Amino acid sequence: METRALHRDVRKTRALPNVSWVRADLDDTRGLRIALDGTERLFLLTGNEPDFARTQMGVVRAAEELGVTHVVKLSALGASDHSRSTIAREHWAVEQALLGTRLRWTILRPHAFMQNWLGDVAESVRAESAIYAPIGDGRVPFIDTRDIAAVSAEVLLHVEAHVGRKYVLTGGEAIGYADLAGALSEATGRTITYRPITLDEARARLAAGGIASAAIDAILAISVMSRKATAAARGHNARYEYFFVRADGEQLREITRLVESGVIKPLVDKVFPLERVRDALAYSESGRATGKVVIKMA
Ligand SMILES: NC(=O)c1ccc[n+]([C@@H]2O[C@H](COP(=O)([O-])OP(=O)(O)OC[C@H]3O[C@@H](n4cnc5c(N)ncnc54)[C@H](OP(=O)(O)O)[C@@H]3O)[C@@H](O)[C@H]2O)c1
Repeated sequence: METRALHRDVRKTRALPNVSWVRADLDDTRGLRIALDGTERLFLLTGNEPDFARTQMGVVRAAEELGVTHVVKLSALGASDHSRSTIAREHWAVEQALLGTRLRWTILRPHAFMQNWLGDVAESVRAESAIYAPIGDGRVPFIDTRDIAAVSAEVLLHVEAHVGRKYVLTGGEAIGYADLAGALSEATGRTITYRPITLDEARARLAAGGIASAAIDAILAISVMSRKATAAARGHNARYEYFFVRADGEQLREITRLVESGVIKPLVDKVFPLERVRDALAYSESGRATGKVVIKMA
């Protein structure tokens, strides 16, 4: 299949079979329209620049106007309108915009990329033989971006089989940074140590690396989720949590996927109907709750 790939910097491109490179900035409406013209199936990805939803929504609008038939949107695990992470909220906004068009779509929601390790982690391993992260002994099913690419290719080549589907993508195993340090020590013959840090320490490190404060908030909100997911998996340390499950099944599907991939282990202790919310509160505060208090919304 003939593929057109966009770039903003020719030095980042490389020759690939059946791929022609076009220079275009997605924020430049005119250049975008020229680049999109004649496109049937579109794979949409940007970075996490503040306000990236606006850029992506512009692409979605242009795609609809120019007769694109199917959009595969690279979103993120946890995309939702009530996430603490602006990244997840922005992805949600783009997803909703896409759903509001005539376009056919498939949404991919990957977990954290394994290739993230090639940034900060690789740097501190090289310089100090240490890994710093604020997720305690949290475990994350990091995914190799090559696996995301393989899924994207499958979807783009067989769009009919994937119309209107949202896929949560994870790696096969949830791993912690102590595991990573162990694997790196074995591979390099050096002793690499995992040093858990607090959220404040992580904030200071990110700020020293020149990351903007809003982006730091978004990154740390994801770290907090990773920590919590693992606390929940340990069960006894997580005394209780509230899950508000929507009737449309969307969140249940995501929770089911996370349970199946081992990221969270549900320990349902009691289920209270909403009219007994006061009993649920009393129970959770009694100190006897070892699992979750689930309040099911109708
Ligand atoms: N990293 C993770 O763990 C993770 C996990 C789940 C989901 N995601 C999502 O995956 C997506 C990619 O993340 P990433 O970490 O791979 O980002 P990234 O390394 O910053 O890559 C973003 C790419 O988009 C291009 N781009 C951004 N704005 C553009 C514009 N206006 N016009 C043309 N090209 C533009 C960039 O081009 P340049 O090279 O020219 O800058 C770059 O190639 C994001 O939406 C992120 O939320 C990431």
